[in-house]
Amino acid sequence: MDVMIETLISEQEIDRRIREMADELSGIYAGKELKLVGILKGSVFFLSELAKRLSIPVTLDFISVSSYGNGTEPGAEILLSKDMDDPVEGQNVLLVEDILDTGRTLKKVIELMNRRNPASLAVVTLLDKPSRHIADVELLMTGFTIPDKFVVGYGLDYAQNYRNLPYIGVIE
Ligand code: IMP
Ligand code: MG
Repeated sequence: MDVMIETLISEQEIDRRIREMADELSGIYAGKELKLVGILKGSVFFLSELAKRLSIPVTLDFISVSSYGNGTEPGAEILLSKDMDDPVEGQNVLLVEDILDTGRTLKKVIELMNRRNPASLAVVTLLDKPSRHIADVELLMTGFTIPDKFVVGYGLDYAQNYRNLPYIGVIE
């Protein structure tokens, strides 16, 4: 595809921020075990980097939901296409997502998780786009607050492309 991508957040900035977040999370969950639940596929790069930096015992699970087609605007429907492998009852669950945009996806996933009685439930995202929030979702922590631009890279896609860019960019 012949498009220009302008860097919004560099690989170095992301790396530094994820280390900070991991340190803070290791403090918050000190003495506990943490289950990271990644929302596929956008969260995988962020989750991997974050998980490696945590100094507490961690387990991983994944869920797959889709709210987007192949465009840049959200559809109204959220589809659960892959559930977690293991139960979360009685566990400290940290939902890991690439971005909080309208919040519709996370709100649905939070509702689903809460019905399964985790000991605690919190949410972290790499990015937050406050100008787009519709559903009310509370974040424990976010990596970067960004303006209302469609971004790609570090897990985020445009029509499934660009997820593997090591930085966050804006399509020109
Ligand atoms: P929400 O339900 O509107 O918060 O959107 C959630 C999902 O939309 C995210 O997990 C992303 O997959 C996708 N999304 C939202 N904004 C962007 C963007 O700027 N670039 C790529 N994907 C996005
Ligand atoms: Mg996504």
